[in-house]
Amino acid sequence: MTDLTKLEADLAAAVTAAPDAAVLETVRVAALGKSGSISDLLKTLGAMSPDERRERGPAINGLRDRIAGAIAERKAALEAGELDARLAAERIDLTLPPPPERRGRVHPTMQVLDEMIAVFAEMGFALAEGPDIEDDFHNFTALNFPPKHPAREMHDTFWLPEDERGERKLLRTHTSPVQIRTMQQGQNKTLPGWIAQGQAPPIRVIVPGRVYRSDSDATHTPMFHQMEGLVIDRAIHMGHLKWTLDAFCRRFFESDSVVTRFRPHHFPFTEPSAEMDVKCDRSGKDVKIGQGEDWMEIVGCGMVHPNIIRTCGLDPDEWQGFAFGFGVDRLGTLKYGMPDLRDMFASDVRWLQHYGFTAFQAPNPATGLS
Ligand code: DAH
Repeated sequence: MTDLTKLEADLAAAVTAAPDAAVLETVRVAALGKSGSISDLLKTLGAMSPDERRERGPAINGLRDRIAGAIAERKAALEAGELDARLAAERIDLTLPPPPERRGRVHPTMQVLDEMIAVFAEMGFALAEGPDIEDDFHNFTALNFPPKHPAREMHDTFWLPEDERGERKLLRTHTSPVQIRTMQQGQNKTLPGWIAQGQAPPIRVIVPGRVYRSDSDATHTPMFHQMEGLVIDRAIHMGHLKWTLDAFCRRFFESDSVVTRFRPHHFPFTEPSAEMDVKCDRSGKDVKIGQGEDWMEIVGCGMVHPNIIRTCGLDPDEWQGFAFGFGVDRLGTLKYGMPDLRDMFASDVRWLQHYGFTAFQAPNPATGLS
């Protein structure tokens, strides 16, 4: 008589050991298939006596049920394992680094503009803006340029074709027209304004922006950037002007050893007028500020001409002021050592990668300006 306990132990062991569905199926056929070991046992029940059958029947049926149950359980486990294996094998690895992206840079001119704005903002200046396409009145007439002044000629100024009213507009040759707009609009708040709606005195504004001149060589480009400054208040004198520009230079170049000098000059809109130079060393490849015996002009300035104050509707006996105009790009080449001004606007990405600033490196007043 078959030893049911041993058969069950053997079958259970085979089921547990089956490594995959195919082997498990052979184990199932060998036990429960048509001529499997358990099926054979079941067939013997028919030939038994009722007493024998009563005893053996439940044992054999129990064995069949337990083995069938064990096979079903093993099958489910194997299937779950296969799914896990597939999931692991077919997984998309999202941890791969993405392909390198090209990173943008802050253009040195924009960087220098930001630094200048930061320094003048600390001194209490507000920002003003005006249009790039100007009219003759704001660019020249109101600024005291005589009718035949050479700056009005074709070789200096980009004139636009006559419009339907016979007026010729121009690309502004400097940011000084915004002095006029600021003062005039300060008098008449209903005038349609640009960004700055104008200010009534006391006025303290800076005007960063693009300007245009028909010029091109290593130190001149047809488009460049200026920053105008205008201060109008009571009892303003040349001492205020000199201190302001001097203090600006020390802060901007982050050195108390910056030496400046003021040379007499002429501008139609200031009286007296001056140019300010910084002392530097130009013997090497880079210009070095705060050392050497050379001078470099960085800003035109002067006391605002009474005619201009009057043209803008203010009384020059009550209000005086000073103005200045920086060449921003020039200041950038000086601070960050770029040899040719034209490269600044050649849109060469390699140049920008080299001289540009990443957003997090860009100097600011908190981390230092150089
Ligand atoms: N507008 C002058 C230029 O483009 C620069 C300048 C000089 C501006 C003296 C001023 C100033 O405000 O006072 O050359």
